[in-house]
Amino acid sequence: MKGIILAGGAGTRLHPVTLAVSKQLLPIYDKPMIYYPLSVLMLGDIRDILIISTPEDQPLFQRLLGDGSELGLNLSYAVQPEPGGLPEAFIIGADHVGDDSIALILGDNIFYGPGLSGFLHDSRQTLDGCVLFGYRVSDPERYGVGEVDDDGRLVAIEEKPAHPRTDRAITGLYFFDNTALDIAKNLTPSARGELEITDVIRPYQREGRAKVIDLGRGFAWLDTGTHDSLLDAGQYVQVLERRQGVRIACIEEIALRRGFIDAEACYRRGAALPKSGYGQYVMEIATTETERR
Ligand code: DAU
Repeated sequence: MKGIILAGGAGTRLHPVTLAVSKQLLPIYDKPMIYYPLSVLMLGDIRDILIISTPEDQPLFQRLLGDGSELGLNLSYAVQPEPGGLPEAFIIGADHVGDDSIALILGDNIFYGPGLSGFLHDSRQTLDGCVLFGYRVSDPERYGVGEVDDDGRLVAIEEKPAHPRTDRAITGLYFFDNTALDIAKNLTPSARGELEITDVIRPYQREGRAKVIDLGRGFAWLDTGTHDSLLDAGQYVQVLERRQGVRIACIEEIALRRGFIDAEACYRRGAALPKSGYGQYVMEIATTETERR
């Protein structure tokens, strides 16, 4: 399975903050936003990942994450010149994906909660068509909204409906088989002038091959679309990290725990950031791991 992080877009709702810097590079408390979706793919053992951004921001993402080898990943980069819609990820990423299946995550989606790795692994193993993740929200009209039958199969999906039929948002993490590439190639823009992810999903839904996993109450799917929600997301992470003394979406820790890198490589990454609490945490977990062995 190949991963794609879609991290383009103009970030207009966050202007002027995003006039000079990509939204997905803004801090969510102690780390750049893109660490969160990257960590989700890593938890699913997806290591071959394409990061799609605007032409202006691409060098910044590369400066931040490099070729991924220090994390045991294979990261590559591509640009999306204009925000023409989420399915462009499959058109731009076609060579990267090849004949493989795809995990697409939006660069501004933050997931945190129990059982996430299990969901990701189960979805990969049982993928037949596509797997989507549903989340109950109070404002479904802002999202793709799905209706699901008793077996967890999607029966209808609509993008930002004025009158949503359910309160189940379809989040920005999608697993697709390789057919998504062909579906995306043949799409035409919607009334708002974009290719829509819901139009990629619908053919799977018609065939009864779109499965929805609902992320329950104990789960956090955090919004980063407005100044307030961005601040809320940062404070959520701050509260959990301070209370528990662990870091959320620490990519070095995930790489270490999943065996992508050894403790020495992990330590080196932390030692490169010695003055930050993040760097110290990375060094500490590496040291603990070395002592444990
Ligand atoms: O967050 C989940 C939602 O994401 C889904 O429920 C919707 O079905 C889906 O359409 C999308 O809705 P948004 O309104 O959040 O899409 P937005 O245009 O804000 O784009 C989401 C992210 O993807 C954002 O960080 C910018 C990036 N993006 C967006 C477009 C349209 C790109 O990189 N390229 C694009 O062409």
